[in-house]
Amino acid sequence: MHPDLPLLHDQPLDALNTFRIPARARHYIRVTGARQLDLLRADPFLAAMPRLVLGGGSNLLLTRDVEGVVLHMTGQGREVLGEQDGRVLVRAQAGENWHGFVQYTLEQGLGGLENLSLIPGTVGAAPIQNVGAYGVETKDVFHSLSAYDMASGELRTLSAADCRFAYRDSIFKHPEGRELVVLDVTFALPKDWTPNLRYAELAQAAREAGLEQPSPRQVGALVEAIRRRKLPDPAEIGNAGSFFKNPVVSREHCARLLETYPNLVHHAQPDGSEKLAAGWLIDQCGWKGRSMGAAGVYPKQALVLVNLGGARGEDVVRLAEAIQRDVEQRYGVRLEPEPVFV
Ligand code: EPU
Repeated sequence: MHPDLPLLHDQPLDALNTFRIPARARHYIRVTGARQLDLLRADPFLAAMPRLVLGGGSNLLLTRDVEGVVLHMTGQGREVLGEQDGRVLVRAQAGENWHGFVQYTLEQGLGGLENLSLIPGTVGAAPIQNVGAYGVETKDVFHSLSAYDMASGELRTLSAADCRFAYRDSIFKHPEGRELVVLDVTFALPKDWTPNLRYAELAQAAREAGLEQPSPRQVGALVEAIRRRKLPDPAEIGNAGSFFKNPVVSREHCARLLETYPNLVHHAQPDGSEKLAAGWLIDQCGWKGRSMGAAGVYPKQALVLVNLGGARGEDVVRLAEAIQRDVEQRYGVRLEPEPVFV
């Protein structure tokens, strides 16, 4: 083992996942940059092991101990790089706290990330699932990222097209991207900013606050207030945000459902399909506020599963499966979990 490789063994992961599920990692390395990954690749024992790349642990459900090595991305640093084509480029290391980074850009007088305020997790995780909220997705403000290729040991720069962003999806969730470890992310923020209030709830909050021309910081504050009202703070109640993706169905399927359920929440997609609100479907099946053992459905937002105290991964899985069964039986729609299961 190389003396510069900070390898730890049998580490608890309880405090490193926002669901607060107890589990352990057989091996664990804090990664601040390419150096540790070079050393890991050079070690035949470690290189052959399964890996789990961990950011803020906010999109993760641990159902067992991690038998391989956890790469905990902890690199810190953020900087304004300068202007390009009417946009300001800002870079942050993967381990930076996402909300802290959003606040940093707002303090610099830069708008663009305010709708993504208060999302738990790290900067490095944002492109993995193309995090989004209130009408903005990571892809909309993304410039490029640096990733370490564990297969070749090379540093690669990926553009938005390379990342193949889609709804809560990117290349990093697919086999072609599995060897890539994100080290830093660069965002392109508009110099000529206008508020994005397309999300009805946010527009309403702005109206109620009497803000006709809100600043980026004011929009950020409105988003924070909405999130605090509806979503549990992981520091208080273990959770991983939305537990299911909003399902997309064909126009015909949606029309059939509307005949029986005229209040069905649905949004037409550019390709003609319809996106349904998983939270609404779960709510209608009567799951809001219900629990199974120590796992529950958050009373203010049915899309969020919570750890009521002492839940294990399998408790959450059992609850999720019961919800999936009910929703599928009633609406013929299979809900897909959003967090990564380990
Ligand atoms: N709804 C209900 N009952 C519920 C929850 C929702 O009837 O218990 C209805 C709402 O009334 C609304 C619709 O479902 O008509 C959609 O709800 P909401 O606007 O709260 O958004 P969402 O679809 O539940 C998505 C994202 C969130 C993001 C919000 C705001 C997904 C899976 N979730 O939630 O993202 O913050 O929109 O943009 O796309 C996350 O990914 O972890 C996350 C929190």
